[in-house]
Amino acid sequence: MQAQADAWRLEGRRIALVPTMGFLHAGHLSLVRLARKMADKVVVSIFVNPTQFGPGEDLEAYPRDPERDRALLAAEAADVLFLPSVAEMYPEGYQTRVSLDRLPHHLCGLSRPVHFGGVATVVAKLIHIAKPQLAVFGEKDYQQLLVVRRMARDLNLDVEIVGAPTVRESDGLAMSSRNAYLAEGQRPAALTLSRALNHARKQVAEGEHRAAAVIANAVATIQAEADTAIDYVKICDPETLEDVSVIDRPVRMALAVKVGRSRLIDNMALVPPHPPSSAQGETS
Ligand code: PAJ
Repeated sequence: MQAQADAWRLEGRRIALVPTMGFLHAGHLSLVRLARKMADKVVVSIFVNPTQFGPGEDLEAYPRDPERDRALLAAEAADVLFLPSVAEMYPEGYQTRVSLDRLPHHLCGLSRPVHFGGVATVVAKLIHIAKPQLAVFGEKDYQQLLVVRRMARDLNLDVEIVGAPTVRESDGLAMSSRNAYLAEGQRPAALTLSRALNHARKQVAEGEHRAAAVIANAVATIQAEADTAIDYVKICDPETLEDVSVIDRPVRMALAVKVGRSRLIDNMALVPPHPPSSAQGETS
């Protein structure tokens, strides 16, 4: 992969990397399409990265179908499908890990303490392997996008991190490989996440500025379905992920909810109707 990347770079080609864990869906393919538009060569990696799964998480159960993935990527005209083995990525004697001080201490990082270090580590490795000028990540995993951006900036990686919007099913459910775990009867419970977010977005657009009121509404929407267990419902600063109590600028709402054995996450921007006068000057 490194030799191929070097050869492309010598020819002046622009390389885009789309890192994934496979079991591809339309959300992943939207990232491949964006990469295709922004670069000459598109590398898609599929690697179910063991260092980002904690004990008792779904590493073994994670859905896999490399042959189907290969066909989907061929149809998108991806140039390389990079499918390393665990032994190639983490050979005997491996001991280096990337860690971040603050971003992982919010949202999903609280219930998944090793997760974001594992993500930052594998993404740094994949960037050194594929040598892309740009790498594309989904806003679906908003905290991950921030972690990767911060890591790339902090470690001076010479790569642009591009964020792409969340692709949803027609009923609003954010696409995820883990939706494969959902039983048919769990659909109404799964749909409470996007419903709560859409309702919050509307409430804030109509002038509600108290985060606690918006959160209480979202919690009620989610708890109205029996099969849900809330991990968190937060309204936070879109860069630091610190809690926000007064919504006087664009913020991010993020949710994690267990539906049966699937842990689902989703997030959305909440934008108040009138930017405060201090922000108006910046945009004019
Ligand atoms: P995975 O869950 O396979 O997701 C790969 C990429 O697809 C991520 O950037 C994710 O945000 C994006 N994605 C997933 N669902 C999406 C949706 N509905 N709409 C738009 N984009 C979506 O995230 C990972 O893998 C891993 O943590 C990885 C970054 C590959 C590191 O191991």
